Amino acid sequence: MQPKVSLLHDLFSSFAKGEIQDGQTVCLSGWIRTNRDNGSIGFIALNDGTCFKNIQVVYDGELVNHDEVAHLLTGASIYVEGKIVLTPEMKQPFELRAGKVEVLGQVSPDYPLQKKRHSFEYLREIAYLRPRTNTFSALYRVRSVLALGIHEFFQGKGFVYVHTPEITANDAEGAGQTFTITTLDDNGKPSETDFYGRKSSLTVSGQLHVEPFALAFRDVYTFGPTFRAEKSNTPRHASEFWMVEPEIAFADLDDDMELMEETIKFCIAYVLEKCPDEMAFFDSMIAPGLLDKLHKVLDTPFAKMPYTEAIEYLQKAVAEGHKFEFNKIEWGMDLQSEHERFITETIVKGPVFLYNYPKDIKAFYMRENDDGKTVAACDCLVPGEGEIIGGSQREERYEILQQKMRKQGNEEGLEWYLNLRKWGGCTHSGFGIGFDRLLMYITGVNNIRDTEPYPRTSGSLRF
Ligand code: 4AD
Ligand code: MG
Repeated sequence: MQPKVSLLHDLFSSFAKGEIQDGQTVCLSGWIRTNRDNGSIGFIALNDGTCFKNIQVVYDGELVNHDEVAHLLTGASIYVEGKIVLTPEMKQPFELRAGKVEVLGQVSPDYPLQKKRHSFEYLREIAYLRPRTNTFSALYRVRSVLALGIHEFFQGKGFVYVHTPEITANDAEGAGQTFTITTLDDNGKPSETDFYGRKSSLTVSGQLHVEPFALAFRDVYTFGPTFRAEKSNTPRHASEFWMVEPEIAFADLDDDMELMEETIKFCIAYVLEKCPDEMAFFDSMIAPGLLDKLHKVLDTPFAKMPYTEAIEYLQKAVAEGHKFEFNKIEWGMDLQSEHERFITETIVKGPVFLYNYPKDIKAFYMRENDDGKTVAACDCLVPGEGEIIGGSQREERYEILQQKMRKQGNEEGLEWYLNLRKWGGCTHSGFGIGFDRLLMYITGVNNIRDTEPYPRTSGSLRF
């Protein structure tokens, strides 16, 4: 049996508690990030995957296999036994003096990752290897921590987590962006109604299925993958992405916005607390000023602006000579990302809730306002990205909802959804956070092809 292997994460926490002694024997296994040998002494930066930091392993000619170790390449996996040397005067608080190094997995010379810095584009081509780099190891650990943060936040408030289905018979957003599910018939041809006997598709949102649970448990959320056949080739659109969708009963749009803000702030504070090394790395290497930005977000109430006012700001900007690609600004239009970004970056200079959108550009389930023109819907926009959350108060009035659904032709098949309005219906609201976009915002990594481990986008299905 091999001696007990320590984990770097535990080693660094023990050190922080003052529990590490000079000369203490430690065994580690991990991967070489860099290795340099100047003949008499060699240095390996070793990472074992359990934390962002590396440990410096120092070796010399005393190693029985010194020559082999001195020639080890970036990426090789090794087992090391050695003694801790405290180095209070150095950047790293301690290092490991190797007494024994065993090579577990060699690296052939065609290994695509080298010591130098690689571009994000290059790393996308080798998505299955990028978690081994500093940037992506930081990013995907934060992704994991953020996912737990979401659960802690909602569970801490008593919300019930609902597993909504991935396969549905309806288009929750009514935007015609569903992926159809089919098996092939005897002739090898797809048939849309084969398996379930009706048209079925991958879900674009768990909302319609989570609403009934809100009308039983009051506060609920779903958090899972969603799929959209949207041909938008942008840094913010993927055809498979994760969405967090809370739904709250006896709550209107103001309550909804309050919860959105609380959620975003909790997530930021959670990641800052749990991932200080990763966040410091993003701040210094990926998005200078990130930490200041996030702290400012934590300290400032989110702005609120009706859609109509946003249109006025945009029209004023155009009148003053600002050029948008989509320059014809009129009430009733759907805002393009450039417009959203102008509002959040230039006008508000921080996160903003745009609310009360024209009813004709929004989904059928949103509650119509008394003006007859707008719905109680709200998007949360952030600098650098635009929309990261979309939410609304739901139409709870049976007749109005039924009329809208008839007009859209989706009443059939969604009778159960409509029924909620006649059996103990109530004011209720909810929203959807694009999890991958939230991760972009928190880390400053500005392409969804990077925040998703294996991105699926229009025209691209690798790995
Ligand atoms: O605004 P959306 O379409 O809202 C809904 O789906 C509602 N049913 C949510 C609800 O009220 N329960 O999508 C919500 C969020 C967007 O704000 C965006 O962050 C993200 O989902 N999103 C995408 N993220 C990545 N790629 C895409 N193609 C996305 N489409 C939406
Ligand atoms: Mg939206």
